[in-house]
Amino acid sequence: MTTQRLHISRRQFLATSAAAGASLTAGPAFAANDVTNIVARSGKQKLHNQLPASTLWTYDGAVPGTPLRVKQGAEVAIRLQNKLSQPTSIHWHGVRVPNAMDGVPHLTQAPVAAGGTFDYRFRADDAGTFFYHPHINSTEQMGRGLFGPLIVEEAMPPGMDRDVVWVLNDWRVGRDGRLDNGFNNPHDLSHAGRYGNLVTVNATPDPVLKGRRNERIRLRLINASTGRIFALRFGQMTPWVIALDGHPVTPRRATRNDLLVGPGNRIDLAVDLPDKAGATVHIVDAYYPEQTYRVARLTVGDGKAARPAPLGPPMALAANPIKRFDRKGAKSLDLLFAGGAMGGMMGRGGMMMRRHMQSMMRSRLFWIMNDRLIPPLGSGQSAAPLFQMAKGKSYVIRMENQTAFDHPIHLHGHTFQVLARNGEGLKHLELRDTVMIRPRQRIDIGFVADNPGRWMLHCHILSHVQAGMGGVVTVG
Ligand code: C2O
Ligand code: CU
Repeated sequence: MTTQRLHISRRQFLATSAAAGASLTAGPAFAANDVTNIVARSGKQKLHNQLPASTLWTYDGAVPGTPLRVKQGAEVAIRLQNKLSQPTSIHWHGVRVPNAMDGVPHLTQAPVAAGGTFDYRFRADDAGTFFYHPHINSTEQMGRGLFGPLIVEEAMPPGMDRDVVWVLNDWRVGRDGRLDNGFNNPHDLSHAGRYGNLVTVNATPDPVLKGRRNERIRLRLINASTGRIFALRFGQMTPWVIALDGHPVTPRRATRNDLLVGPGNRIDLAVDLPDKAGATVHIVDAYYPEQTYRVARLTVGDGKAARPAPLGPPMALAANPIKRFDRKGAKSLDLLFAGGAMGGMMGRGGMMMRRHMQSMMRSRLFWIMNDRLIPPLGSGQSAAPLFQMAKGKSYVIRMENQTAFDHPIHLHGHTFQVLARNGEGLKHLELRDTVMIRPRQRIDIGFVADNPGRWMLHCHILSHVQAGMGGVVTVG
């Protein structure tokens, strides 16, 4: 990692990137020695020792891609080189970047053509666990391995024995043992997305992490799957949650809701290994209770203990500089999700389904947002924004899921506060950029629209955004 601090003022930086955004040209150019190069490329790799090689698309030949680690407040400068045979981009998921650096082709920049480059530069204002990935043809690009962790370290990192990043994802392996080449089939588009049949942690199926008695590990989990939702269980143990989607929470024993990790979600845990030599903790995904399986194991060695007794609760991390949401002055907006398979024909959602049924079949747009069928960006049809927001004003978006599926809803450029689930206020502060909304659930989120530009608001099940579950909100 060669990113250095660049001596460029915040104001200059914003001016440059705003100009680039307006004209949809390349980002600001900068001197080569300041820059970390990331190359998106295609190559043959085995998904597993016993399988034949598949065509994977990777950052720098690795899955997950180059782990980026920077200090909070640092300027990040990345040059993306596209050696794929199709356009791509990098989106810095969860990072509150200037709009022109957000990496959304046809919205914040032109697609980075095959053979092309793009310079990304932004300041990492928030500490936490983030990740990066393309934002075009995403089901295939992420489904072939294009994603990597971005860790922004606190000025004063909490004292834990180890800091471990686990990128979770799944692969759909065909009968021939190779990655299935069918992306975006109508069934995936209209149901739960492109589920894989091989789940990996840092590209390894069911890995074992070895530790010492009473060792405390900061475990940063990133769900980079195109569609798989994890409901994690740690056997007899309940880890501490210290951050959700990168943002600190008052440390508490993780609840089931915390451990429901949808595509795009991250969770930082403090995991205390048992005080017992030889013990094994099985980490299981129980999202489908009838089909639980092991994701990974933690084992305790019989050597020296990290300390004589287990630690007490971890210290809270320092809050990130997120603008305080002002509930009293906030304007409320409604967002209704409908459509998809098995959606039912009842209620307002059902009415919308009946109204749009014919065009849904024709257009392969299976999901409805606020009574609209919204084509994906770049399809040539431009769609009016879902919402237009005034800069600096507080907003509540009252979301309701009238589909039969879970959806991780992601907002770009902002961090929001989850205010209520089914009308019930939350006991704990929960700041996120991606929130899971369950079937028939209502979730209210609140935030200050302080980042000007055009931002995506979409489901992070990538087959869903391809099929209508993505819109644009403007701030300005
Ligand atoms: Cu993780 Cu719109 O993206
Ligand atoms: Cu969805």
